Amino acid sequence: MKILLTGGTGYIGSHTAVELVAAGYDEIVIFDNLSNSKLDVVDKIAKIAGVTLEFVEGDILDKAELKKLFSDYKFDAVMHFAGLKAVGESVEKPLQYYETNVGGTVNLLEAMQAAGVRKIIFSSTAVVYGEHAKVPYRETEPSGQGITNPYGETKHVVEEILKDLAESEPGWQVAILRYFNPIGNHSSGLIGEDPNGIPNNLMPIVMKVARGEMEELLIFGDDYETPDGSGVRDFIHVVDLARGHVAALKHLHEGVQIYNLGIGEGRSVFEVIESYERLSGRELPKRVVARRPGDLAAYWAAADLAAEKLNWKTELVLDDAMRDTLAFLKG
Ligand code: NAD
Ligand code: UFG
Repeated sequence: MKILLTGGTGYIGSHTAVELVAAGYDEIVIFDNLSNSKLDVVDKIAKIAGVTLEFVEGDILDKAELKKLFSDYKFDAVMHFAGLKAVGESVEKPLQYYETNVGGTVNLLEAMQAAGVRKIIFSSTAVVYGEHAKVPYRETEPSGQGITNPYGETKHVVEEILKDLAESEPGWQVAILRYFNPIGNHSSGLIGEDPNGIPNNLMPIVMKVARGEMEELLIFGDDYETPDGSGVRDFIHVVDLARGHVAALKHLHEGVQIYNLGIGEGRSVFEVIESYERLSGRELPKRVVARRPGDLAAYWAAADLAAEKLNWKTELVLDDAMRDTLAFLKG
């Protein structure tokens, strides 16, 4: 089975490539413009997985490159990771986010349609549930209401496009995966989250502080109505998340299926920091500051649908993610 991974040198795509090979899917082609990842990731994936992968440098905004890609390779399925993901930046540059995340996806779907490829797994987010959804978030909850940033809107729009497309034409097999908060990395420490520019997610910032590249970790609020006052999220190990993609691929069938990929429980920002500090034996310079605008107090996934339909559940815990982060930091 030949599988295209758009954005496959990125954080989640690279871990998914490793898990696909481990599950026997070793015909992988990565298509990425390297705007937020590095070329050497291809060799690192190959080293971990023990196979060679094909890499094509290209942009989902370039229709001609996509056309060539689909004529050069006969794909059976596509996993679509390519996109922009910084929530804060999306508020400042909404057009860039709509262009890449929505426009780029439309280009990809057009190229797939023209080539007769109708299996796609799409990277969505828990943000589509919006700020009024009941916790834990269930796939049956309405989505698209009360989304607090353009990034989340782009993911919601793509979900709607995929539903309309599958409705318009028989044969489409679509899995929409709503990720909660991926953390950690492969235990080898070879690949991990290494964003260009200033990160805004918790773990990349913890890593920058640990490396001395940032002075201190700012904890955004300790006055939430949560057990310890800090924000609560469903932190899922990226290797478990990657395995969720393999499970979704195995269970693809006609129509659109939507699954949460999360652990199914919330952990707090203070708990994450505690785990990191205990395992590293080092205290991080840190300071509590005001809440970050737009942040929700607490949410996590209802994870039973993916367990039931995909026969998938998470196996790794917070300490595993921190141990693997330390391995990545050592390089
Ligand atoms: P990432 O930035 O590490 O990976 C995305 C990859 O896409 C990068 O390698 C980047 O170079 C590439 N890319 C960006 N624009 C492109 C373009 N126009 N053409 C070709 N390639 C392009 O991000 P990630 O964390 O691996 O996220 C993967 C997907 O999952 C994204 O769609 C993201 O929105 C979604 N997602 C991520 C999270 C998270 O917390 N990491 C949560 C929910 C959803
Ligand atoms: N946090 C801090 N300090 C920081 C960074 C984060 O205290 O420097 C806190 C936040 O306030 C929040 C928690 O850590 O309580 C997690 O924040 P992240 O920025 O790591 O993640 P978010 O929950 O805000 O959003 C993330 C991704 C989205 C994704 C979503 C899915 O940014 O892309 O999870 O739930 F869609």
